[in-house]
Amino acid sequence: MKIVRLQSTDSTNRVAMEMAADGAAHGTAIISATQTKGRGRLGKVWQSPAGKGLYTSVILRPVLKAEDFPYLTFVAGLAVADAIKQLYNLQPGLKWPNDIYFFMKKCGGILSESSALTVDPSCRFAVVGIGLNVNTTINDFPAEVVTRATSLFIESGREMSVDEVFTKIHAQLLLEVQSFERHGFTPVIKRWRELDCMFGKRLAWVAVNGKVVEGISLGPDNLGRLHIRDDSGKVHEVLSGDVQLGTS
Ligand code: BTN
Repeated sequence: MKIVRLQSTDSTNRVAMEMAADGAAHGTAIISATQTKGRGRLGKVWQSPAGKGLYTSVILRPVLKAEDFPYLTFVAGLAVADAIKQLYNLQPGLKWPNDIYFFMKKCGGILSESSALTVDPSCRFAVVGIGLNVNTTINDFPAEVVTRATSLFIESGREMSVDEVFTKIHAQLLLEVQSFERHGFTPVIKRWRELDCMFGKRLAWVAVNGKVVEGISLGPDNLGRLHIRDDSGKVHEVLSGDVQLGTS
């Protein structure tokens, strides 16, 4: 399987999207020691200090219906959590839709992109971009995130090989995508809920109209939509966006 190793690039997702459009095979991965314009979700920047973290994008050509492609992001979150647990016996939590957490601090995130899903099924692809803080220390984090971020090193006191972490996550992702193709989303979301670190916690969500909805997380439903019960008892179904821990 082709693994492209780079010292530096703007964004491994950008490289992977181009390679996938040019026909790169299922499982092809791009890994870079640093990124100058790492992309986060919702237009945010993903800080990518050299040699401290895992910055990788994996090209997938799964045999799935177009409407099942968005679920790949949940599959990827599970694969990252499972790989970390199997390698180091550290159990990460998952924060909807696909952040990797330890004790309410973010350790990693996933940015999934895909080709147009209306094209011929044989031409469809997805790119799963994974950013994971591996050997990052407190001093490596920008001041504005330092209280909300963590790394495998901070959680375990051990330096880890970024390459070892990559190899395990890559293998686990391909295994879990295969299982998803065979068994569908039900077992994925069932296992995802077991790792949901926000279940029952108070969250704030900014709706599309800019209104902030605060309430208790009831976790994702069988279609992956997050349910939040506000103080009046109304349940909101959240399809996209970002949720933060609530203020009270
Ligand atoms: C998030 O906002 O939580 C998602 C962050 C995803 C970052 C990774 S790093 C490797 C890949 N390349 C990118 O430009 N972004 C993703």
